Amino acid sequence: MNKYKLLLAGSTVAIAGMLLLTNSINGKSEERKAINTSPVVKEKGVESRNEEWAKYYPRQYDSWKKTKESDKIDDQLTKNPQLPVLWAGYGFSKDYNAPRGHFYTIQDITNTLRTGGPIDAVTGPMPTACWSCKSPDVPRMIEEVGELEYFTGKWAKYGQEIVNPIGCGDCHDSKTANLTLTRPYLKKGLEASGVKLEDITHQDMRSLVCAQCHAEYYFKKTEWTDAAGTKKTAAVVTFPWANGLTAEGMEKYYDDANFSDWTHTISKTPMLKAQHPGYEMFKSGIHAQRGVACADCHMPYVQEGAVKYSDHHITSPLDNIATTCLNCHQETEAEFKAVVKTKLERKEQLNKIAMDNLAKAHLEAGKAWEAGATEEEMKDILQDIRHGQWKWDYSIASHGAFYHAPEETLRLLSVANEQAQTARLKLVSVLARHGVVDYIAPDFSTKESAQALAGVDMPKLVAEKEAFKATLLQEWNKQAVEKGILNMETRKGMSDNTSYK
Ligand code: HEC
Ligand code: HEC
Ligand code: HEC
Ligand code: HEC
Repeated sequence: MNKYKLLLAGSTVAIAGMLLLTNSINGKSEERKAINTSPVVKEKGVESRNEEWAKYYPRQYDSWKKTKESDKIDDQLTKNPQLPVLWAGYGFSKDYNAPRGHFYTIQDITNTLRTGGPIDAVTGPMPTACWSCKSPDVPRMIEEVGELEYFTGKWAKYGQEIVNPIGCGDCHDSKTANLTLTRPYLKKGLEASGVKLEDITHQDMRSLVCAQCHAEYYFKKTEWTDAAGTKKTAAVVTFPWANGLTAEGMEKYYDDANFSDWTHTISKTPMLKAQHPGYEMFKSGIHAQRGVACADCHMPYVQEGAVKYSDHHITSPLDNIATTCLNCHQETEAEFKAVVKTKLERKEQLNKIAMDNLAKAHLEAGKAWEAGATEEEMKDILQDIRHGQWKWDYSIASHGAFYHAPEETLRLLSVANEQAQTARLKLVSVLARHGVVDYIAPDFSTKESAQALAGVDMPKLVAEKEAFKATLLQEWNKQAVEKGILNMETRKGMSDNTSYK
């Protein structure tokens, strides 16, 4: 009997949740009418200066600006020293922090050691594509120069153009203020996955504006010829969604295309780097399946006198349980914090085992090559490592998946562990065949020891970065100010935190 009561109570909560959700969607249509009669921020093109929007929408602007409060640098390489080994030979072994507020995107992309220390527009390790999820200046540039030109060249090509952090023009049409998809690659990804763009609902849009960036992507090499007849190669952000929005579907997509992000310098594995499949993981969870959108939890409605608006302070919903979770659920704040904490702990336990096993698999594979293993002997092993690391990365890289999709996160971590263990078992035999028994992988228990194994030269990288910040970066900002696209006032009082000084 109790069991049925419980079930009934459960469904009542769920139904109440759904009703509230429907109400909130209906409430939104009135807001939308208001938006339709709203002032035009910019008649043509994208208004990338957030402070221009503030003139018409002060509440949204003020709450958006609070993303500045999330300024803490949380160095993941110190926290999880397995990471530099897992990413040996790839940029992420140099510098990798947990996400901060949207306000910091431009500072973070210029500060990260991954973008290096370019000395002019054509130097540096990364392509222009790296700017793509950082600023409303990106859709502005795509409109101005065309998609393929935008994706051609080095990251440093646009330092003087892409200067405003994620803001209004990333999610809203500058003329109508309606929600809009400013990134062409999301539209293409959706179409490739079988979604018809004309079927997208307003509630879908409340997640899809986020999916423009919180999604898995890769840089697709694309040859093209510009209007002057010059042959160029673009690195185009592409969503690998043609086989569906699952880890296995994307793994097959990459395998079929014979694609790898880099070759691991220790194990020689052709690797995949999961970016941040936040939307895809979210879609597999119960909230998405019940029609809840990202904005329902990360941008709840707030009431200010007679005015109701969306809180644009995008952050952890746990900072605001009363206006997020408790909009649909009835438990207490303490209960909800505990629910999320338990999910995080469960993920962390399996995550740590997976990282350890994968790091050891790379090091043991490195030893096997050193001992004289052949391509033939290593082929299957490297495939296990590739697939295992892909699933591990896919499950955790979006940071919120442990909560958005707990079952899928734990499933992928289990499979990742199994594949890493299989590789390690096979490596024991290969090593023995080449006369190596009882091999123990070297220590990687600190960021320093792990980066030494990965061949990361931190002093050199930091010196290059400091030189870049003292010279070229200053030049970029000066030019942007002269051009009228950057107002230095907006950066006043910003601390310049990094993981390396
Ligand atoms: C990451 C995406 C995103 C960014 C950045 C963003 N918004 Fe929004 N905005 C939304 C979403 C989602 C809604 C809810 C829309 C709905 O359901 O109708 C919204 C709603 C609004 C509304 C309608 C009224 C309301 O509050 O619900 C206005 C006006 C608005 N935003 C202005 C702005 C301004 C001004 C900025 C920049 C300071 C901004 N937005 C930045 C996603 C964004
Ligand atoms: C234009 C790209 C872009 C869009 C659109 C976008 N994000 Fe983000 N988001 C990012 C990036 C990049 C970061 C990491 C910023 C950093 O660390 O500098 C981030 C960080 C976050 C964080 C971490 C904040 C913190 O304080 O720790 C949350 C939560 C988040 N985004 C949720 C959302 C939601 C919800 C939406 C849609 C309403 C959205 N984002 C839309 C790119 C985007
Ligand atoms: C049902 C509520 C809910 C929905 C819907 C939701 N989230 Fe979250 N999200 C959370 C919670 C809770 C956390 C964990 C916060 C924490 O650990 O403090 C989180 C964490 C995150 C984080 C990691 C933040 C960090 O700093 O580690 C990002 C990014 C994020 N969500 C983005 C999204 C995006 C994008 C969507 C839609 C595709 C979405 N969320 C939908 C509740 C939600
Ligand atoms: C817009 C409504 C809405 C919001 C906001 C919301 N939820 Fe939910 N939640 C639901 C619905 C609907 C379900 C599914 C109920 C079912 O079908 O069993 C659900 C299910 C759950 C479950 C059970 C499934 C699981 O993953 O274990 C938990 C726990 C939960 N929500 C926690 C939260 C937390 C924590 C927050 C705030 C960060 C939150 N919810 C915000 C509507 C919402």
